[in-house]
Amino acid sequence: MSANQNKFAPDWLVEPKDANQIAAQIWPTNFVRSGAGDVSIGGVPVGQLATTYGTPLFVVDQDDFFARAKKVKSAFDDAAASIGSSAKIYYAGKSLLTTEVVKWVERLGLNVDVSSGGELALALAADINPARIGLHGNNKSLYEIGRAVTANVGAIVIDSEIEIERIASVAGAQDKIQPVRIRVNSGVHAHTHEYLATAREDQKFGIAIADVPALVAKIRSHSHLKFLGLHSHIGSQIFALEGFIESVRRLLPLHKSLLEGGDVPELNIGGGFGINYTSADDAPDIEVFAQEIAKEVARLCGELDIKVPVLCFEPGRVISGPAGVTLYNVGTIKDVQLSEDGVTGVRKYVSIDGGMSDNARPSLYKADYTPVLASRISSAKPALSRVVGKHCESGDVVVRNCYLPEDVSPNDLLAIAATGAYCHSLASNYNYLTRPAIVAVKDGNVQLILRAETEADMFARDPGYSAEKTG
Ligand SMILES: Cc1ncc(COP(=O)(O)O)c(C=O)c1O
Repeated sequence: MSANQNKFAPDWLVEPKDANQIAAQIWPTNFVRSGAGDVSIGGVPVGQLATTYGTPLFVVDQDDFFARAKKVKSAFDDAAASIGSSAKIYYAGKSLLTTEVVKWVERLGLNVDVSSGGELALALAADINPARIGLHGNNKSLYEIGRAVTANVGAIVIDSEIEIERIASVAGAQDKIQPVRIRVNSGVHAHTHEYLATAREDQKFGIAIADVPALVAKIRSHSHLKFLGLHSHIGSQIFALEGFIESVRRLLPLHKSLLEGGDVPELNIGGGFGINYTSADDAPDIEVFAQEIAKEVARLCGELDIKVPVLCFEPGRVISGPAGVTLYNVGTIKDVQLSEDGVTGVRKYVSIDGGMSDNARPSLYKADYTPVLASRISSAKPALSRVVGKHCESGDVVVRNCYLPEDVSPNDLLAIAATGAYCHSLASNYNYLTRPAIVAVKDGNVQLILRAETEADMFARDPGYSAEKTG
């Protein structure tokens, strides 16, 4: 802890000189404070957005989303081209999926990864070319497999032996040849700065390296299946390149052994590329990661004397995360007196009109976030604060550690950065809160890409519900 550090703040959280600051590495490019002090996103003032669409509200800076998607695509395209191959990028739909988002990514030349029948249905509803869809899941139902094969999806990722027969029989019944990958449990697990490498990771996904050859032989024995290659996904919010390097070191010798039985055109290295959530984060440059991974693939393929496969990646958060912010209205505020080891202090508890139902990541993963007072500028000094939701859980925290201006007040608007990924997609109706709308903003224009849920939507499944009685 540094000399002037507040004892009740974590070491990484430095008290800002100005609590109004908008750090470029955390916020979307078009999130700017106007001369009048309020913030606009994509040229639209936050006050206007909140008045028109209500709060909480997910706001996507469309230009920022596009710029990140293009950067990711060209990073992997260029890296693969530099080693004489090509890349296929699957946007991980689970991070943020609406029909408009599917259209954006398809327009940008990306493919889409889906993990359930619901995500598949949404991607298909957006009219994406089904050959651009990859289906994941450790427990796909026969119905989901049937839907995917019927739709002619470009790839299904097999996650367990039983799925081989299931997919083969569905494809056989439709007289189709279904391309498949096999998900490998490589034993590499990475999270932010560390990675763990064991013989086999103790988790539900994938097939142990030792079991893969027999399963690939089984796939190849089915005339209605076509083997594309291996797949591995080693974790999320990864800053450590070494995890990806270790993963390709484990996969490529296996890939080589499979070449003895037939073609293996692709190698899928998954997603998980990290982003900045707070001033303490320094996320890696995706271009550097792409180049380093490609270099290692080329080196190993040279050593193993095999052709460099097409490289597939599945980035989600790195595209959708930083482009999104959530707007909340401030409700109640409490200054809670703290005392520890004879030191006293205050933490300001700022309650907002959403919480764990629209952002489950802090309660699920202890994720950190960064807020800013968005509806005005304040000259008050920074106060150690905690942004909390309105749910009946003490763990309902949206930003555990932050500084906000000491005069933050009811009806101020707070914006939380980097909430584009895994916030709406993990949203729930806990305590019967309705789920927020998503708007895309660009050049002063607003597009509603998902309307807010209404009570009528939420209660539509309850046969005893009647709107007339609810007042
Ligand atoms: C198989 C697979 N691919 C890709 C992703 C996307 O990860 P991220 O959004 O962190 O890039 C995930 C996320 O859980 C995943 O499970």
